Amino acid sequence: MQIIKVKNYQEMSNKAAEYIIQKVVQFPNCNLGLATGGTPIGTYQNLIEDHQKNGTSYRDVTTFNLDEYIGLAASNKNSYHYFMNDQLFKHIDINPERTFIPRGDAADIQKECLRYEECIERHGGIDLQLLGIGSNGHIGFNEPGASFESKTHVVNLTQSTINANSRFFANKDEVPTKAITMGIATIMKSKEILLLASGSKKSEALFNLLNLEVNEGFPASILQKHPSVTIIADEEALSRVKN
Ligand code: PGA
Repeated sequence: MQIIKVKNYQEMSNKAAEYIIQKVVQFPNCNLGLATGGTPIGTYQNLIEDHQKNGTSYRDVTTFNLDEYIGLAASNKNSYHYFMNDQLFKHIDINPERTFIPRGDAADIQKECLRYEECIERHGGIDLQLLGIGSNGHIGFNEPGASFESKTHVVNLTQSTINANSRFFANKDEVPTKAITMGIATIMKSKEILLLASGSKKSEALFNLLNLEVNEGFPASILQKHPSVTIIADEEALSRVKN
């Protein structure tokens, strides 16, 4: 596991974008796993700026997002479909047909989970998966207790996740209580993982990721077993980690 310590959110975003751009330049048809939430927004802004200034092309890139709220259609402003279009896809030259996100409004959610998992496999798997981390140690929406064997599945969001994500909604009652997420096994199959963390509210999670014994009660601890993880984190997020 490689840890890159940076000063603040802006530096984290710069470094993360550089990392992704390098991958895309080297492998123009790579499969990127993408994340939503507050953490990657600055990274996506840098990708957009670089695309506009330097012309880095995403024409042949395929993307798979980690998760989506159940019950929200792609057109809903709080859906992760909407987030991805708004924060990244509509500003770069990616082919919308190559951007995959679970359908939160699918008529048959179980079928949708299978379809999504197969879709990732059919495209040859994920080359680089971008991850944030929940303060409770979740990755994607794999909450504490999620099986390490899990593939794409339905989850009940914990109250702490609902509270954390309510900042994006008009009020807490609007936050969906269920989501579709890639499973831990799906994430672990990615060839490479890039995890970002910023701010003191992530310091305990990062400490636990690095120091706890691998256990399903703290999902991100499984990353200790992945052969290729890079963490880019700022000083506040790493404040509890010595050396
Ligand atoms: P955040 O969420 O980027 O909004 O902090 C991260 C996560 O929950 O994985």
